[in-house]
Amino acid sequence: MKETPKIKKLNDLKAQSRLGGGEARIEAQHKKGRLTARERLDLLLDRGSFREVDPFVVHRTHDFNLDEQKFMSDSVVTGWGTIDGRLVYVYSQDFTVFGGSLGEVHAEKICKIMDMAMKNGAPIIGLNDSGGARIQEGVVSLAGYADIFLRNTMSSGVIPQISAIMGPCAGGAVYSPALTDFIFMTRNTSYMFVTGPDVVKAVTHEEVTQEELGGASVHSEKSGVCHVAADNEADTLYLIRKLLSYLPQNNMEDAPLIPSLDDPLRMDEALNTMIPDDPNKPYDIKEVIRLIVDDGKFFEIHENYAANIVVGFARLGGHSVGIVANQPAVLAGVLDIDASEKGARFVRFCDAFNIPIITFEDVPGFLPGMYQEHNGIIRSGAKLLYAYCEATVPKLTVITRKAYGGAYCVMSSKHIRSDLNLAWPTAEIAVMGPDGAVNIIFRRELDVAVDPVKRKAELVAEYKEKFANPYVAASRGYIDDVIEPKETRPRLINALAMLGNKRDGNPAKKHGNIPL
Ligand code: HXC
Repeated sequence: MKETPKIKKLNDLKAQSRLGGGEARIEAQHKKGRLTARERLDLLLDRGSFREVDPFVVHRTHDFNLDEQKFMSDSVVTGWGTIDGRLVYVYSQDFTVFGGSLGEVHAEKICKIMDMAMKNGAPIIGLNDSGGARIQEGVVSLAGYADIFLRNTMSSGVIPQISAIMGPCAGGAVYSPALTDFIFMTRNTSYMFVTGPDVVKAVTHEEVTQEELGGASVHSEKSGVCHVAADNEADTLYLIRKLLSYLPQNNMEDAPLIPSLDDPLRMDEALNTMIPDDPNKPYDIKEVIRLIVDDGKFFEIHENYAANIVVGFARLGGHSVGIVANQPAVLAGVLDIDASEKGARFVRFCDAFNIPIITFEDVPGFLPGMYQEHNGIIRSGAKLLYAYCEATVPKLTVITRKAYGGAYCVMSSKHIRSDLNLAWPTAEIAVMGPDGAVNIIFRRELDVAVDPVKRKAELVAEYKEKFANPYVAASRGYIDDVIEPKETRPRLINALAMLGNKRDGNPAKKHGNIPL
C-alpha cells in the first residue's frame, strides 16, 4: 500500500510520540527494573484495546530553555481501553520525559481524561511514576495538581478511582492517589512520601532511605496508605484487573454478575467444627470466608495492615460482596484504631458502589489502653459505627463467636439497620466475657467467699449458661436465626436474592459529618 507524504508524516509523528523521552531514557527506565508508561498500559488493558488521546500535545514553557526540549505527548500517556471487555479510562506517567514531572499540559491531559470518565461513568486508573511538580513551570504545576485534586474529590463515590504507584510519588503529588479509592504499590521500586529523606534529615535529623520512609512495605503494613502491595509491576497491574472484576462501572450500576460452578446450596461440614471449644483459642477467619464464598476466592484489601480485621471482595452466587470480618487469629480480633478506620473506609466504599456487605463477627470489644485512648479510639471506633449506620446496601451479619459490648452494636448489628443477622450456636452475645462480668457483678460475694476460686468457677459457668449464647439475643429478635455453620453459604446467597430489590435511604442533607 502506498504511503502518501501526509500519511507518512502522521505515522512518523506518532512513532516519535510513542518513543517518549527516547531510547536512552527508556533503557535507563528498564535498568531501574521499571517498565515504560506504554508497556504498563499494554499489560493493564485488554490486548489492542488502548486508544490514546493527545499524542501531539507538547508543553508551552519557555523558561529554563525548556522550549528547546519538547517531547510529544509530554510526560503522561492518556486514553481509554477495556479490562475484561469493560471500559476504563487511564493515564500513565512517563518517567522518560522530564522524569514524569507534572506541568501545565500534563495536568490538562489528566483532567481531560478524568472528565471523560465522569461523564461516561467508567473507572479511572492512574499509573504514577513522577518526580512531582515540574520545577521549571513553577506555580502552574501546582495549579495543575489542584485541578486534579478537585476532580478526584468530585469523582469520589461516583466512579471507582484506582491508583498504582510504580516509581516516585512525592510531595503534594501524593494527594491525588490519596484521594482515590485504592492505592496499589510495587515492592522495591515505588515510594510515596510528603517530604523525602533529605528534608526529613534536615528537619528531624532522622536518617532514612526512600524505602524505609515510604516504600510499599511501609505503606501496606504501617501507614495503611497502600491497599495492595505487589512483588513486581506485572503483578501490580494484574491485581488491578482482578479488583475491577468485583466493582461496578459507577455508582448507578451493580457490579457484574460472574456465575460460578460452585453450588449455591453447597454446605461445608468443616464449618461445623471450625470454632474451638475453648473460647480463648484462635482460628483463622479467612479459612471460614474461603469455605463459604464462590470457589474459595477472596480478594483481600489491606492484607498486612490492621490484620485484626479482614476486609475484601468475594462473590456469593455470582454476586460481588464486600466482606468485613474480625480476625480472632490476630489480637483476638479486637477493634483498635487502625482496624476501625480500615473497616470504616471499606464499608463506605461498598455502600457508595452498591456492593452488599457481609460481616463475620467474632470480637471481644475495643482494645483497652493508654495508647488507644490517647490517640482517639473513641473517634476511630465512631467512624466504623457511622459507616455501618449510614450504609443502605444489603447488610448481612454472621456472628461466629464473640459479640461483646459496644463492638456488638458496631459490627453491623440489627439495631443499625443490618438486614439479616444470623448466629452460629457457638455465638456469645453479651455485654462482656464471662470472666470480666463475674469479676464485676460478684466482686463483693467473691471477696468474702470461703473458696473464691471454686465460687468464681461456678459463677462463670452460670453466666455462660445464661448469657454466653445466641439465644437471649434471638429471643428478642436481635438475631434473626441461629443456624448450623455449614448452612452459612446457602443462607447468605438466599438472603442476597431476598434483598435484591432493597430500597433504603438517609435523610436529605448536604453531607453528614463522619467523625474524621
Ligand atoms: C522537572 C524533573 C523533575 C521535576 C525529575 N526531573 N524530577 N524535571 N521537574 N520535578 C528530571 C531530571 O532533571 C532528569 O532529567 C529526569 O527527570 C530524570 O531524573 P533523575 O534525577 O535523573 O532520575 P532519578 O535519579 O531516578 O531520580 C528521580 C527523582 C529525582 C528521585 C524523582 O529526579 C528527584 O528528586 N526529582 C525532584 C523531585 C522533587 O523535588 N519534586 C518536586 C516535589 S514537590 P534529565 O534531562 O537529566 O534526564 C511537588 C509539589 C507538588 O511535587 C505539590 C502539589 C500540590
